[in-house]
Amino acid sequence: MLSHEQISFFKTNGYLIVPGAMAEQQCKKVRELMWQVLPDNTTLQAGDPASQIGPFKTADETSDARHLRQGYRWLNRFLGVNPEVINLIYSESICAMAQQLLGGQLRQAVANGLPMGSYGNAWPGGPTDPATGNEGARGVYCTLPYGNKARDPDQCHTDGHPFQLGVVGLIDDCPEEGGGFKVWPKSHTRLYPTFALRYDQPRIPYYEHLPSYKGIVHSPEYLREVDKLNGEVTPVECWGKAGDIVFWHHRLAHMAGHNYSDTMRQAVLADFWTTDLDQFRATPAQGDMWRDWSVQVQLSGGDYSDELAEQQRL
Ligand SMILES: [Fe+2]
Repeated sequence: MLSHEQISFFKTNGYLIVPGAMAEQQCKKVRELMWQVLPDNTTLQAGDPASQIGPFKTADETSDARHLRQGYRWLNRFLGVNPEVINLIYSESICAMAQQLLGGQLRQAVANGLPMGSYGNAWPGGPTDPATGNEGARGVYCTLPYGNKARDPDQCHTDGHPFQLGVVGLIDDCPEEGGGFKVWPKSHTRLYPTFALRYDQPRIPYYEHLPSYKGIVHSPEYLREVDKLNGEVTPVECWGKAGDIVFWHHRLAHMAGHNYSDTMRQAVLADFWTTDLDQFRATPAQGDMWRDWSVQVQLSGGDYSDELAEQQRL
């Protein structure tokens, strides 16, 4: 279970790294599942790290949103509903921690249910909507090492689909600069009031003959704040050991880290929300942003020790 101090840290910074939250043996099983579903003739081979340096060869690529292999990304969303993966990321202890933060009644994932990406993209050529046809976790997301690819700047974003709490769980060791999830501390409190809606956002339908607007609409305040975050705030990189997880607030700015290491980044991504989300999502994003979170979060003063801050790489 999370301590008062950990909860306090989460409230102030919008993220919380919890080392060793998943069993190493179960992580190993999920890593094996990834390789089992890769076609035999793929260049990438489990025992050969050199073969895992990206990008994917054209012959090995696939655009199926449920098992995407493109560029440096290998995203298996079918595995998001695999019972092993659900037991791993929605384990009793991880759900208990999420419950400590969210209060309410957690939505239950459905093993062998519909995986994310089942209905294709949010619009032609657009991103996969994590909220449609997703009865489990988002899936197992890998980032291949960049090899000699030129360095790219960090660029944060927030997720557009409705949920309340995200989690990224490393299923293999991930070194620094190895593609770990990156978070912008305290950005949740800066971005939250720039939204019109609490856990959702207005969208404009996509029309092929009117291509300027595609889905999500951001307020000018939001776009300004994201620019400032990119310029002013040093992100925290959630590298670590297999079994480490990071919880993150729905409105926290983040990105999938660049992988400048020689090791493939392997993680399970999942969302948490309560059965009240449908009622909350379109209510105004004004006032106390914690009003529907647990009493413990609401009462927390947001204080923590220097020691915890250091553990959290702040
Ligand atoms: Fe994201």
